[in-house]
Amino acid sequence: MKVGVLGSGGVATTLANGFLKHGHEVMLGSRTPEKLKEWAATNSAGKTGTFADAAEFGEVVVLAVKGSAAWEALRRAGESNLSGKVVIDSCNPISDEPPANGVLRFFTTLNESLMEQLQKQFADARLVKAFNSVGAPFMINPQFEGGKPTMFICGNNEEAKKTVTGILDQFGWETADMGGAEAARAIEPLCMLWCIPGFLRNEWTHAFKLLRK
Ligand SMILES: NC(=O)c1ccc[n+]([C@@H]2O[C@H](COP(=O)([O-])OP(=O)(O)OC[C@H]3O[C@@H](n4cnc5c(N)ncnc54)[C@H](OP(=O)(O)O)[C@@H]3O)[C@@H](O)[C@H]2O)c1
Repeated sequence: MKVGVLGSGGVATTLANGFLKHGHEVMLGSRTPEKLKEWAATNSAGKTGTFADAAEFGEVVVLAVKGSAAWEALRRAGESNLSGKVVIDSCNPISDEPPANGVLRFFTTLNESLMEQLQKQFADARLVKAFNSVGAPFMINPQFEGGKPTMFICGNNEEAKKTVTGILDQFGWETADMGGAEAARAIEPLCMLWCIPGFLRNEWTHAFKLLRK
């Protein structure tokens, strides 16, 4: 697949590297593509460009930017470049205020998630929430003694979720589909839970697993 990754931070480069590792074509995008020179130098198979270049390039688009900038990044990517495409949304709506006793603060409410806002604003894109509930170092083929961890996903388009489930299979995850975009109200706060041991005890090496009978 051709994958356009919007972002220049740790999540964007980690996922870009994961897609390259699994044989996909990748273009990484930033407002200032010069920022991506270092990544390009060590990943000769990867391409770089603006958010719009990366979104146009991708059959699948990954959104991996600061939560408060997600709308702006998609606007710059261009509605027509996103239309009909799977957009994997890894963003968390973390506010700029400091955590309270290890608990991150969000700028959204429990009755409306960031992903629902983005899906409303970019109605023709097929958003799927994924990769937001684990730290970047564990996103690609994580190895845990307890077996494969679970990635919780949601989104309104069934085909799009099938595509993302296929990617998660390649990336060594078990997928739990939690339904439509509203489920992001529960999936986005998993990032708060994931970060608490980190902020309180400097423990950042875990992932969630859903146990079933
Ligand atoms: N770090 C983790 O381990 C982790 C794990 C799971 C989920 N997440 C979520 O994944 C997302 C990316 O996290 P990150 O740590 O890799 O990076 P980040 O520092 O949260 O975001 C960096 C990206 O945000 C973009 N950005 C910042 N302000 C912008 C603006 N005003 N307009 C457009 N774009 C703007 C930057 O674009 P430019 O390239 O143009 O500067 C850059 O690509 C976040 O939403 C985060 O909550 C992070």
